[in-house]
Amino acid sequence: MKTVLITGGAGFVGSHLAETLLERGYQVEILDDLSTGSIENIAHLQGRRGFRYTLDSVMNRSLLLELVDRADVIFHLAAAVGVRLIVEEPVRTIETNIRATELVLELAARKRKPTLLASTSEVYGKLDEPLFGEEDNLVMGPTSRARWCYAASKIIDEFLARAYFKEKKLPTVIVRLFNTIGPRQTGQYGMVVPRFVCQALSGEPLTVYGDGTQRRSFTWVTDVVNAMIELVEHPKAFGEVFNLGHTRDISIYELALLVKELTASSSEIILVPYDRAYEEGFEDMPRRLPNISKVKNLIGYRPTLDLPEMLQRIIAYYKEKLSGHEIAKSKEHKSAGSEQLAVGRTIRQQRALSKAQKNRRQLAASSGQNFKQQRAEGRKGRR
Ligand SMILES: NC(=O)c1ccc[n+]([C@@H]2O[C@H](COP(=O)([O-])OP(=O)(O)OC[C@H]3O[C@@H](n4cnc5c(N)ncnc54)[C@H](O)[C@@H]3O)[C@@H](O)[C@H]2O)c1
Repeated sequence: MKTVLITGGAGFVGSHLAETLLERGYQVEILDDLSTGSIENIAHLQGRRGFRYTLDSVMNRSLLLELVDRADVIFHLAAAVGVRLIVEEPVRTIETNIRATELVLELAARKRKPTLLASTSEVYGKLDEPLFGEEDNLVMGPTSRARWCYAASKIIDEFLARAYFKEKKLPTVIVRLFNTIGPRQTGQYGMVVPRFVCQALSGEPLTVYGDGTQRRSFTWVTDVVNAMIELVEHPKAFGEVFNLGHTRDISIYELALLVKELTASSSEIILVPYDRAYEEGFEDMPRRLPNISKVKNLIGYRPTLDLPEMLQRIIAYYKEKLSGHEIAKSKEHKSAGSEQLAVGRTIRQQRALSKAQKNRRQLAASSGQNFKQQRAEGRKGRR
């Protein structure tokens, strides 16, 4: 039975990947420092045969070496993500995204462990094409705009993965994820769908940044993780980069209207200028739609769900989460979607307010003893 290491496995995509791999009979090891992920995301996997997790940073070299040695395949998902986080914490973004990837690739290369790197559609930057293809130019904005540090750091990651493939014969696959959505995604760091859904369900205004004409495509997370697994198993995928996304797009204002309709919410929709939502001079892309021919031709990938169906499922997830006694405790989710958080508090301030509360809940949700031990070990390892 193959053992898979997922860095960032307690995050949104990572937790779904872990779930799917376990269902397919893999042994799964997760390494996550819970900086944007959550123990709640993997609470349902605890106790499953073949599942283990370690709460620590990818930067813990000796620990990473041990986990890489135990693994047959590595999915490197750990990264600083989310537009708000990137704009507010560029140092952390650059350091996490570049150093962690460098370390994962260096250690994986020692024994040539196949490694998949999660990159992003952000690397296309301001490219103005109807469809974005893997060989298209990457058009970055100026370094005075912090948002581009995420794209730039992921571009370096891609170059590193390609360099390791070419020079060190490490089998690497790069996937450029376009907006991926599903249960367990948080709106806390700027992701639009969970933010709109939480706002609509709690009767708060849906805050559309900019004029809302910017268009995006959204893909169901299970389609994405299935494709990631098939790609890392496919020898012809090594040394290549693949777009993973949906071929239909929607304007963000229309998305807000759709969420409002599907939740039967009486929330109003308000426009928030980018410089209030993020930072002065913030640049956004008018459109971002993938050409998926390459991944379709190699593994037969195609998105299985359309947006209304995806939204219905996410709404059902949040309704359940926010129902009953959860509603009283849902301040974090409410504020994650609220205008107050979106344009008021910084992520650092919001973290300071919610971290202690969140950790207490996570402790209760996880299998207490195991979690405490893991944290203690994690701390030890970091010293
Ligand atoms: N979700 C999307 O729409 C999307 C789009 C493009 C790219 N991606 C990429 O997919 C990957 C997963 O994204 P996600 O949406 O699940 O975000 P996420 O924030 O839910 O997951 C990232 C995980 O990495 C962990 N992490 C961060 N730094 C770490 C470190 N130093 N050591 C250990 N763990 C660390 C976080 O705690 C978190 O659990 C990322 O690499 C991201 O760039 C996601």
